[in-house]
Amino acid sequence: MNTTFLLGGDLPVNRLGYGAMRLCAQPGNFGRFPDWEAGKRLLRRAVELGVNFIDTAHAYGPSCNEELIGEALAPYASGVVIATKGGVEKTAPDKVFPDGRPETLRRRCEESLRLLRVERIDLYQLHRPDPNVPFADSVATLAALRREGKIRHVGLSNVTLPQVEEACGIVPITSVQNRYNLTERADDPVVDFCAARGIAYLPWGPLAAKPFAPEAPLASTRGALAWLLHRAPNIIAIPGTTSPAHLEENIAASRVSLSDEEFATLSANAS
Ligand SMILES: NC(=O)c1ccc[n+]([C@@H]2O[C@H](COP(=O)([O-])OP(=O)(O)OC[C@H]3O[C@@H](n4cnc5c(N)ncnc54)[C@H](OP(=O)(O)O)[C@@H]3O)[C@@H](O)[C@H]2O)c1
Repeated sequence: MNTTFLLGGDLPVNRLGYGAMRLCAQPGNFGRFPDWEAGKRLLRRAVELGVNFIDTAHAYGPSCNEELIGEALAPYASGVVIATKGGVEKTAPDKVFPDGRPETLRRRCEESLRLLRVERIDLYQLHRPDPNVPFADSVATLAALRREGKIRHVGLSNVTLPQVEEACGIVPITSVQNRYNLTERADDPVVDFCAARGIAYLPWGPLAAKPFAPEAPLASTRGALAWLLHRAPNIIAIPGTTSPAHLEENIAASRVSLSDEEFATLSANAS
């Protein structure tokens, strides 16, 4: 099994990444992570252990998750890739809404550049299509930011297959991030579409955690991650954790290579 993926054709990343969202106050990933220094240590430990793909978003916090990453990791070690997102606003733990207007996306991108302490964002994802803004207008804004050199690659999140196809007609799409895991596989056609085109697929909720749940519900987190990595070569897993022990366990999962038989058994038992 190939343990790395060439993101956007030029950024080699380990397929076991890290999702930073939970390094915020709870519930609802709203506010600063209470133990700021422990959060910084966790991020640095992830990089030390070989993680070089970290996912965040403006909406996590909002802003303070990006701030934590910038503070912990900048100047970034060579090869560390940070992916962030714009297009979702959060004003309270349970008040989350899309805003895909071009002016909002531009403003959020500028803020992300500043908080992450980078001159160009490696991967900038539209967090969620906004039903009040033509999807093509939001994607075209990310295409313009790419032309201007503010972002290197464009990604999408929470999108349907027709939306991925539409976006591919506007700008090269480097990644798709949708909810997908061993027990929730409705997005199989999108995984396959992306795999066929060399587009990275970043399953969110890889351990099937629910947004407001404190714990991963899947009994074998290692099995769940190994299953994802076996499922398709373009999958980059981004499990989230606030625990150094869980971080190590999750990274160890990238060394578990399932046989085709084991994969089939896990798939059948979980469906
Ligand atoms: N695009 C989107 O709309 C969207 C939405 C949600 C998430 N995401 C992205 O996806 C990433 C992952 O999603 P997620 O954090 O919701 O779900 P997840 O990775 O499926 O699960 C995280 C939960 O599992 C627990 N956990 C992690 N490793 C564990 C282990 N080895 N053993 C036992 N429990 C473990 C964590 O608790 P502990 O802290 O105790 O380890 C945490 O509560 C996020 O960080 C974010 O980057 C994107």
